[in-house]
Amino acid sequence: MIEWPMFLRLIFILAGCVTVSSAVEPAALFDSHGCRSCHKIGERGGNSGPDLTMVGHRRPRAWIEKWLASPRAYKHDTKMPEQGLPVADRAALANFLSELKGQAWGDDPPWIDHGDHAPDGRRIYVRAGCIACHGPAGRGGHPNPGGRGGWIPALPPLLATYKKDELISKLKRGAKADAEPGRVAEVDMPGWDKILSAADLEALVDYLLTLASAGPKDGNPQDDF
Ligand code: HEC
Ligand code: HEC
Repeated sequence: MIEWPMFLRLIFILAGCVTVSSAVEPAALFDSHGCRSCHKIGERGGNSGPDLTMVGHRRPRAWIEKWLASPRAYKHDTKMPEQGLPVADRAALANFLSELKGQAWGDDPPWIDHGDHAPDGRRIYVRAGCIACHGPAGRGGHPNPGGRGGWIPALPPLLATYKKDELISKLKRGAKADAEPGRVAEVDMPGWDKILSAADLEALVDYLLTLASAGPKDGNPQDDF
């Protein structure tokens, strides 16, 4: 027969276990490993790295896990620190991040101006995460192992070859990267038709076309996330 004090102690111990296991929930890991100081999910978080509210749309789980294993092995000059995450935390974070497809914004993505309800193309480029692959102002520079030259290309020289409606349908469909002979590129572009509205795409393409005419600019990439 268990006495009451012992029974209460058991309850406390069990409650303790529940608290400990909820502390390793992936969303909590994101905060406890300091990820949020550089990355936003929803409206909360820093600006030194790309917004991750939609990272699960643009990056497959396996890619995320590889990136987390060693950002510098993937991109030698990245500002993301090597954190040597425990394997279990890395897997839990990869699961968590690959499910993020914009839910935290609900129907209110951050690129809609509440004054006139018009989408802002540059903000779409940054917040939906085009910037994570094509770099600030489309300058490129993110690795694509197996892709042509090993990189995701800079956009401005390519944009000049498109008409506006061609560009919109390319973005809706997504794009398979050109690969080096005999290889398969690791990164392809997802389609954006389920994510971006017709008005969003229109605004985004207007922004891209300003890049095409301005050409690549210099600057600190960290300013732009
Ligand atoms: C000091 C700031 C910093 C911290 C802390 C940080 N990151 Fe990053 N992260 C970056 C930067 C900068 C990039 C962009 C990589 C690049 O292009 O160089 C990035 C890229 C990423 C990407 C790829 C985004 C994409 O769409 O391509 C993921 C995923 C990511 N970080 C997850 C995490 C997680 C999870 C943590 C915590 C364990 C974390 N980051 C901690 C700065 C940071
Ligand atoms: C996960 C990485 C990734 C993201 C995110 C991404 N792209 Fe791409 N994009 C690519 C790759 C890879 C290609 C194919 C490049 C090639 O031809 O090898 C591409 C191709 C393109 C092209 C066509 C260029 C050409 O080859 O003619 C345009 C335009 C473009 N992307 C714009 C965007 C815009 C705008 C966004 C944001 C809505 C975006 N991309 C998001 C990876 C990405």
